[in-house]
Amino acid sequence: MDKEFRQKLDDYVKVRLTEKRYAHTQGVVETAVGLARQYGIDEDKADMAALFHDACKNLDIEEMNMLVEYYEIGDVYIDKPQLAHSKLAAAILKDKFGVVDEDVLNAVSFHTTGREGMSLLEKIIYVADATEPNRTYKDAKRLNRLAYSDLDMACYEVAKYSLEILDNSGKYIDQDTVRAFKYFEGIVHSQSFENSRTFATYIAKVLEEKKGEDVIVLDISEQSSFADYFVIATGGSLRQLNALADEIDDKASASNRQVRAIEGRNGSGWVLVDFGDVVVNLFTDDKRDKYNLEKIWSDCESVDWEAEVR
Ligand SMILES: [Fe+2]
Ligand SMILES: [Fe+2]
Repeated sequence: MDKEFRQKLDDYVKVRLTEKRYAHTQGVVETAVGLARQYGIDEDKADMAALFHDACKNLDIEEMNMLVEYYEIGDVYIDKPQLAHSKLAAAILKDKFGVVDEDVLNAVSFHTTGREGMSLLEKIIYVADATEPNRTYKDAKRLNRLAYSDLDMACYEVAKYSLEILDNSGKYIDQDTVRAFKYFEGIVHSQSFENSRTFATYIAKVLEEKKGEDVIVLDISEQSSFADYFVIATGGSLRQLNALADEIDDKASASNRQVRAIEGRNGSGWVLVDFGDVVVNLFTDDKRDKYNLEKIWSDCESVDWEAEVR
């Protein structure tokens, strides 16, 4: 980036930010440039986006609302400085400074929420914002290091953490935040499902989170010619069996695992979800007793999935 131009951006930002926020900005610059170097992308773009990302952060609410209207950013951003400051910084960078690089503008615009399908530069700004050296929350240092070795995993953890904080505080949650989380969850899980065991333990966790009962994972690979793992769970009603089947179908496809067949949705009390290497058996209470798969496959190892699942 042209030295003079950088100075102009820096001057603009510096007078508008509190000392603390400006120090944060410098931390984001440092981290973002370091990550750009690590991942082989244009360091100038990372520098520019990082320097300007919080340019509007310390505007007062009236001024922000006025600018949201002026730039026609959307009524949803009125009275939401937490979200509006990112969109406004992108608008001003374009309007006042003539920056037209869409990637830089998007990196600024989505630095708070993230979004589905983020570019490398967007991820770098997103994660640098959350993990720069002045951040003091418990995992900040670890996540900062993680970003250098596994950017998607770091983004996933940041997205998860942001969503938890918003959820706990009852604040407005932008749909881009939710989509970013699901997007990174999908990437992280598809990376981690390099074998059927990690996939089976993940499905077990999904079932338990959805209130499936007595969830077990059996390693049937030695005894079976058709699959490697059985996952078995009980649902409280026929309706819940279908809801459990839907949930694992959704979560699996978000992680690039396609279901081969779902059988038994007709109310028999046994729904079978077949992923090929992993077969999920969902029973009502009485049907689980009746078919007693655990007994039939009793010489198979029962996997301690709670200890293994990531
Ligand atoms: Fe920000
Ligand atoms: Fe920031």
